[in-house]
Amino acid sequence: MRVADIVTVTPALSISGALRVPGDKSISHRYALLAAIADGRSTIANYAPGADCASTLSCVEALGAIVSRTSSAAGDEPALVTIDGRGLRGLRAPAAPLDCGNSGSTMRMLGGVVAAHPFISTLVGDASLSRRPMRRIIGPLAQMGAAITAGPGDRPPITIRGADLAGIHFKPETPSAQVKSAVLLAGLQASGDTSVLEPASTRDHTERALVAFGARVTVDPSTRSSSASQGSNSLRAGGLITIQGGQRLTGTDLMVPGDLSSAAFWAVAAAAIAGSDVSITNVGLNPSRSALLDVLRRFGASVEATVEDHWNGEPVGRLRIRHGAMTDLVITPDEVPEVIDELPVLATLGTFGGSVTVSGAGELRVKESDRIAELVAGLRAMGADADERPDGFQVRSGTRLKGGTVHARHDHRLAMAFAIAALGAAGPTTIQGADAVAVSYPAFFMDLDRLARRDRAPRAGGRAPDGAQKNT
Ligand code: S3P
Repeated sequence: MRVADIVTVTPALSISGALRVPGDKSISHRYALLAAIADGRSTIANYAPGADCASTLSCVEALGAIVSRTSSAAGDEPALVTIDGRGLRGLRAPAAPLDCGNSGSTMRMLGGVVAAHPFISTLVGDASLSRRPMRRIIGPLAQMGAAITAGPGDRPPITIRGADLAGIHFKPETPSAQVKSAVLLAGLQASGDTSVLEPASTRDHTERALVAFGARVTVDPSTRSSSASQGSNSLRAGGLITIQGGQRLTGTDLMVPGDLSSAAFWAVAAAAIAGSDVSITNVGLNPSRSALLDVLRRFGASVEATVEDHWNGEPVGRLRIRHGAMTDLVITPDEVPEVIDELPVLATLGTFGGSVTVSGAGELRVKESDRIAELVAGLRAMGADADERPDGFQVRSGTRLKGGTVHARHDHRLAMAFAIAALGAAGPTTIQGADAVAVSYPAFFMDLDRLARRDRAPRAGGRAPDGAQKNT
């Protein structure tokens, strides 16, 4: 699905309706990587449709896993991916550099997989990924026995000479699910035990996915090390996660829940705009991802989240968000790791009413863009009263956005956050680089068309012609 490069979003009276969001990006990456080193065949239903997860599939294919992808003839049905795994440490040397595209998750977690294989792999990425720090995985993987070189400042490309790894006990400096996962994936293929003591809780999809493929993983929350355990909010501190090396994985049939980080755009819009009411079904409700919902409740929204099932150990259910009161929001450093991907869209709440202040989020500066600088620049271009802090930002209430022209800076979450802010502006907003949404949510603007209630008919709909400008 091609997305227009330039999209103009007009204000909406409200957001309402029911929808499903695309398959979870984080979970899809993990299922593809584990399936590639499992014995036998895995099927992955509702595999995430964006470019990031396609990068992971191409990389495991280049390493010898047999991958097939099927989708409906219309091309808009969730994809079913089948992977014939090569078994533990059974991947083959790639013939060319492994292209991770825009995906930090692919590069970091794949690093943990190839570090245990006795060949050389070079991992490359696009311009954005090439600026992102890799020291955080190079350190522990080298300690386990891999030989790794990287570009200046330990940035991509990274070249990994894999080896017989030995387990380590690792305490990351920064809470990061990607780094935790890289170490656990290497640890699965190492001798002895490997453990990670998290400074704060991060998404636990790798732990759950390993269990779904038949491995044993122990999580000891009593060893929680973070100040978050004494913090004033309800977020969970990290624990000690241990995996024994040498466990073989068994290929299995999996289904990926809807991505709560994609649902976040509609949840925030519904919380922010009077009269809104949005329901989302089959969405992942993993507690390590759902801090967003607590933040929205604090803002004053009505949030109903109902777990209806578990798919491969992941809680799945439905979500209903309605507009309510709008209070000032302060997001503290303890809360940041569990809402890290939602911060750009949460910032937009400050443009509707109720200021938003975020601190302890310096990590945002090394995401797909410098999300502090670019987010504030974009919101200000639309008329917001906002400013940067070294490790966060503040968006002050009381100023209605005018609209205008913003650039998404090749960052999918910024493109979507600006579109949500645009719904509350007085005039239209033109988003340049809007095609970045294809990284995680190719149908984002189509869903926006369906949900936005506007005062004038007809509403724009359908798919924009390739490369064309689209109004929504
Ligand atoms: C992810 C973890 C987070 C998040 C990223 C996806 C994952 O990154 O920002 O979008 O799938 O593990 P960090 O682990 O670097 O915080």
